[in-house]
Amino acid sequence: MWKEEKIKAFRRTLLDWYDANKRDLPWRKDRDPYHVLVSELMLQQTQVQTVIPYYQRFIAQFPTVAALAAAPEAKVMKAWEGLGYYSRARNLQKAAKQLMVEHGGQWPHTATALQELAGIGPYTAGAIASIAFDQVEPAIDGNAFRVFARLFCVPDDIAQPKTRAVFDQLIRQVIDPKRPGDFNQAIMDLGSSYMAAKDPDPAHSPVAEFDESWQTGRVMDFPVKTKKKRPRPVLYYALAVHSPKGYLFVQRPSSGMLANLWMFPLVAREELEPDNLAAATVVFAARAGHQVAFADPELPVVKHTFTHQQWQLTLLTAECPAFALDYLPGRWVPVADLATIAIPTVQKKLLQGVQE
Ligand code: ADE
Repeated sequence: MWKEEKIKAFRRTLLDWYDANKRDLPWRKDRDPYHVLVSELMLQQTQVQTVIPYYQRFIAQFPTVAALAAAPEAKVMKAWEGLGYYSRARNLQKAAKQLMVEHGGQWPHTATALQELAGIGPYTAGAIASIAFDQVEPAIDGNAFRVFARLFCVPDDIAQPKTRAVFDQLIRQVIDPKRPGDFNQAIMDLGSSYMAAKDPDPAHSPVAEFDESWQTGRVMDFPVKTKKKRPRPVLYYALAVHSPKGYLFVQRPSSGMLANLWMFPLVAREELEPDNLAAATVVFAARAGHQVAFADPELPVVKHTFTHQQWQLTLLTAECPAFALDYLPGRWVPVADLATIAIPTVQKKLLQGVQE
């Protein structure tokens, strides 16, 4: 570990640079914990440039914790549409309700208490506690892992859960106790510029003299990270069943991927069994004398990659009369109403595939 003098020089250098060069981002206009929470949840897994318009619309639509807690879930999901990882949106609203019901609308200030709220893990708790409440807490996301791994040439594998404690200890020794929120955000800005994962510019970094990986010619050796497995291909038929009442949509199960969202019926290709509800839909459409083609190599295939799965969806289309849906957890959605329900990106691709 660095000597006390070097630690102080690092804080001063980093914060001077941040004060002069910090990015002008909509969630940096104040320190409202609600603004910090919404932005940090959106920024997990999503680029800053993509998040900005979503963040602005979301705050305009749900300006306070109370407004978010009281909103219909469908409206919240609609506002999140296209950002992906929808459990973040559901958890966000759950956290808002917890704040209203369990905390009387008052925010807890410590990272430990914040972690009791839905969807708030160590990173988000550290970000809120430090930025909104001046708590001396690290906020360790991918940026912080990379920046500190390079500054200190940390050999630990950041893909291992136990490595977080190593970085937590390290950062606690360096974080500025007077400006912890700015310190954490300065690290984020370094991590997306001079110390980025791709095309970093360590030579011109404001903290180049503190960067051991740069000083020793090993910038790209850090952070140490074992490779993730490639997303597993999962094959489905997607059924675009259209009638005078619109497209047939079914609601996905309440747990698992894209929980509760509305999509075309999907049939796992290895599960095409007669007792499968979705398969029954195809059979129904086929019986009604409509075009349902199986295993035709000409059928369009739509691909969508999630963290652990790559869906390959073969599109089957059918035109049919508006049959009753009593036996299906489904509904007909007129094309004009498509804009009113929360549709995941993979379903948007399917609609596009149908229209082409
Ligand atoms: N990435 C994660 N959190 C961020 C923030 N608050 N500002 C900029 N980039 C971020």
